[in-house]
Amino acid sequence: MPGFVPPTITPPDRPLGVMASLRAVRENVLGVLPDIAFTQPIVSGRTGPGRWHMVQGAEGLRRVFRDNIENYPKSEVMIRMLRSAVGRSLFTAEGPEWRWQRRAIAPVFSTRNVMALAPLMTRTAERAADRIAAVDGPVPIVREMLSATFDVICEVALSGRDHFDAEVYGAAITKYFQTVGRASLLDFLDAPHWVPRPGEILGRGAVRTMHRMVARAIEERRRRGPGGAEDLLDYMMKAEEPETGRRMTETDLLHNMQFFIVAGHETTALALSWALLMLANDPAAQDRAGAEAAAALGSAPAAGAAEIDRAPYAEQVLQETLRLYPPVGLLARNVLAEDRLYDRTILPNDTVFLNIYALHRHRLWWAKPDVFDPDTFAPEKPRDRWLHLPFGAGPRICVGANFAMLQARIILTTLLARFRFAPAGALPTPVMHMTIRPEPEVMLRVTPRAPGEALGAA
Ligand code: HEM
Repeated sequence: MPGFVPPTITPPDRPLGVMASLRAVRENVLGVLPDIAFTQPIVSGRTGPGRWHMVQGAEGLRRVFRDNIENYPKSEVMIRMLRSAVGRSLFTAEGPEWRWQRRAIAPVFSTRNVMALAPLMTRTAERAADRIAAVDGPVPIVREMLSATFDVICEVALSGRDHFDAEVYGAAITKYFQTVGRASLLDFLDAPHWVPRPGEILGRGAVRTMHRMVARAIEERRRRGPGGAEDLLDYMMKAEEPETGRRMTETDLLHNMQFFIVAGHETTALALSWALLMLANDPAAQDRAGAEAAAALGSAPAAGAAEIDRAPYAEQVLQETLRLYPPVGLLARNVLAEDRLYDRTILPNDTVFLNIYALHRHRLWWAKPDVFDPDTFAPEKPRDRWLHLPFGAGPRICVGANFAMLQARIILTTLLARFRFAPAGALPTPVMHMTIRPEPEVMLRVTPRAPGEALGAA
């Protein structure tokens, strides 16, 4: 069986020139990745005054992510896109500023703390399923998944939506992604980063709105004091660097919480949306995932930690989804000192792109690079972990990876146990700006599973 080949875009047969690159970057960054990025471990080129290298092989990625990490700080362009909203928080900080925050925040996301949040995630998964059941006609899946993961983050970080207008905050996030989050023409022409970009100016109001709301939630928590179940915000307020006991300032707390809210829910919602789209188009995989999830849930309305352990195929589906549509498909790094990657000399001020999207669909590393096959991640299959890097790698690997996987597994298992999904519109195209989104919206027909099925009866 060839399996379902989900939508992709045809890469240009050679690296694009300056004007074509500028146009493509505004429309869809995936349109800039040349054909040879999928057959070679490194591709180098020049756009305007800047020299760049795209790396999509395990050896090169290991060097940049881990073995020579000090030489490859995050690129100014990426940091500029985020700084107005998240300052110098964990994601954007470098050197000692990064190190102390990482030491303080890593324990916040320990397995024990994250597992303690599972019951809150289960409640939000149940609410998401009830919302979907009430929709009349085809369901806009990305919108529903954004709502579900936003609900999780409100619940685990901000004590629900009581002090927090989710509609207003959601609209501000969208505005932020459409303005500040778009690579600007000036970035390609290498204008100094202190020159304000048009998108940055347009996005300032959105950032102010988001900050005001998060600050209010933190203030409210301080006033309320301890009591009730602990959540992410409580853990963060108590976080300290183990060696020095240093604690977060109000600004550190605000910026980090802001990052968790924006990054944590968008990425996970996109993974869930792509997963449902592919299952809707692959009935055999959906039957298997659905039957297993329904049996795991029995009569429970939503999955918890125990149920997801009994539905491991849903996790394979998610891993395969993160391979084909890694929400963060391309990362950029600056170069401090001369280095070698494969047969190339990398010079100071070059830009290195860590091309996760091409790594995951590379002709040399994968037998069926573009086919959706969750058995790629069957437990017995041997794997090189450097070929599957949806959460990055090395010391700066995603600190929220286990949080993201837990919420995604709980939501996906719940939805598969309760519903069947079928296509109800044209297949969308993957479009990458900061993240890889399906455009247009994923529309699916959703029908409840028969009661016998949902109870796991024969
Ligand atoms: C499917 C969901 C997610 C994906 C695909 C994802 C992906 C990534 C990637 C690729 C990086 C590395 C960036 C780099 O090296 O430049 C990263 C870092 C990070 N992620 Fe995630 N992420 C996800 C969910 C989350 C969640 C839920 C949170 C928090 C609640 C989070 C917080 C962070 C933070 C704070 C960093 C920076 C870590 C550091 O630099 O030390 N992410 N993420």
